[in-house]
Amino acid sequence: MGLPGAGKGTQAEQIKKEYNLPHISTGDMFRAAIKAKTPLGIKAKSYIDKGQLVPDTVTIGLVEERLNQEDAKGGFLLDGFPRTVEQAKALDEILAKTNRKIEKVLNIDVKPEILLPRLTGRRICKGCGNTYHLIFNKPKTEGKCNNCQSELYQRSDDNEKTVANRLEVNIKQTKPLLDFYYKKNIVADVDGDRDIKEVFSDIKKILDTLR
Ligand code: AP5
Ligand code: MG
Ligand code: ZN
Repeated sequence: MGLPGAGKGTQAEQIKKEYNLPHISTGDMFRAAIKAKTPLGIKAKSYIDKGQLVPDTVTIGLVEERLNQEDAKGGFLLDGFPRTVEQAKALDEILAKTNRKIEKVLNIDVKPEILLPRLTGRRICKGCGNTYHLIFNKPKTEGKCNNCQSELYQRSDDNEKTVANRLEVNIKQTKPLLDFYYKKNIVADVDGDRDIKEVFSDIKKILDTLR
């Protein structure tokens, strides 16, 4: 968990390498559907471009389907889901059907004030989806991905106006959702206002205790 720009995707890239887990990002799934112009993508785009949440019923159905795929049977990493208490409850029900449960909730904690420049400076690889930043995480060659040399692009919801709305919407959802997981005693808070490597080092310590 973490507000927009907290570093969920950035840390997930490293977690999936280290622990060999499928990275399930609802944001990435919606963006793939938008690119493919599927009915789901067309519906999701109207919410995403305004910085609003896609309705729970749509999002929950998408995640249930994904969690029942073969590669997720031995464990998975969720990024950006659940985002509402409704989604969290539905997730528990989905997992209970196959005797699974959420083991750990990593909460990347950052002050909202630092997030606008993180989001407007973000660039993403068109080829492999790796995330960069114009100042904080520059590619070796300007505008090109380090991994696959493809061109970098800016997300359509990373403009100032949409970012402001995304932050407002997500700040409102966060407290009840965190409380839901604090009650289960499975939350690990990580200070996300540090260097990307330092944040990952803390996350690794937490996840190594689950190995
Ligand atoms: P989603 O794609 O999940 O967007 P988000 O929550 O707004 O989060 P971001 O992906 O913007 O931030 P991040 O935390 O991954 O940051 P990143 O690592 O890239 O969702 C998009 C939309 O889809 C939502 O608005 C909603 O409409 C819809 N949606 C998705 N899930 C949904 C759900 N469950 N329910 C309903 N609707 C849903 O880092 C950001 C930048 O900062 C990068 O440039 C990075 O290089 C840099 N950076 C990262 N860490 C650091 C650091 N420690 N120091 C300096 N820079 C850093
Ligand atoms: Mg992300
Ligand atoms: Zn790439």
